[in-house]
Amino acid sequence: MIGRTTATGSMPRLRDPTAPAIAGAADRLRAGGVVAFPTETVYGLGAATRDAAAIERVYALKGRPADNPLIAHVTDAAMARTVVADWTDTAQALADAFWPGPLTLVMPRAGHIPAAAAGGRDTIAVRAPRHDVAQALIGAFGDAVSAPSANRSGHVSPTTAAHVMEEFANADDLVVLDGGPCAVGIESTVLALTHAPPRVLRPGSVDADALAGVIGAVEMVEADGQVESPGTSTRHYAPETPTRILGPDALRDALAHMEPCVVIARMVAVPEPHRVFTLPADVDGYARGLYAVLRAADALEMPAIVVEALPEAAEWTAVRDRLRRASHRT
Ligand code: TXA
Ligand code: MG
Repeated sequence: MIGRTTATGSMPRLRDPTAPAIAGAADRLRAGGVVAFPTETVYGLGAATRDAAAIERVYALKGRPADNPLIAHVTDAAMARTVVADWTDTAQALADAFWPGPLTLVMPRAGHIPAAAAGGRDTIAVRAPRHDVAQALIGAFGDAVSAPSANRSGHVSPTTAAHVMEEFANADDLVVLDGGPCAVGIESTVLALTHAPPRVLRPGSVDADALAGVIGAVEMVEADGQVESPGTSTRHYAPETPTRILGPDALRDALAHMEPCVVIARMVAVPEPHRVFTLPADVDGYARGLYAVLRAADALEMPAIVVEALPEAAEWTAVRDRLRRASHRT
């Protein structure tokens, strides 16, 4: 029996990831349905990669521009070979080193994969997630599952099943597999193997040094304004509340005379009457907690969210990137 099912009505169905629930979710994918599932990074909104109509439903649910391509999720390199035109030694070396894990590879798309699954491009992004539920679902389905982060376009990515339920509160055709909070907490590193040297289109927890250790030189792209990976447009991962980043001194100064606001702190002590969420000082803990804290801060509906600036060290690159986007106003 399925352990937990929300009441029927116009809302998604939340399921514990029991064997029958996973088999049922795989059947839904086979029938052209959409299933939200946990990965180690963030939750994904999945549909069969080969089913253009199901992919269209994912774009519609998210309100995502049709030209922003999706990641095809696979169990392993063997399945990745079925979605790309030509699996290379470089791809194999990266898969050996980092899969299953938070690294996405952009490669030429196989001709039999619908262009809709790649935002109309002739390349496709592919990754093998490191999460038992994701692996079980894709394995039971037996084929690639395309999934953007399970949030409405431009919103903060979901790191719990409850976040997904909030994002798609009215989607009664959606099943959400609850795999608990995500261990990594920020989206995967996106690496384009279509460039020489390979190019990081979106920084993530697999950093440039780790990649270079396996394949030699990689290029970092300053994502602001770049069009190659449309999902990295500047304003992204954003709360509704105006959000800004201040260094420790400017922050202490601002808090002394600002009207009450929400502070996302790391080291700084925050005086009343401001509200504060303190994230861990280490980068992994910070990344894991960031999106839940951004959501909770937003939910307080105060006039502003102020975030304590992060260290300049290279290991903070991916988290700094997400914070910069969260604070960007357009
Ligand atoms: O960790 C993750 O990557 C999560 C989980 C669910 O796997 N997924 C995720 O998907 O973040 P999404 O759709 O929110 O972000 C995918 C990023 C976007 O910036 C998109 O533009 C880029 O990958 N991307 C996908 N396919 C691409 C392609 N063919 N060429 C260039 N960029 C691509
Ligand atoms: Mg996303």
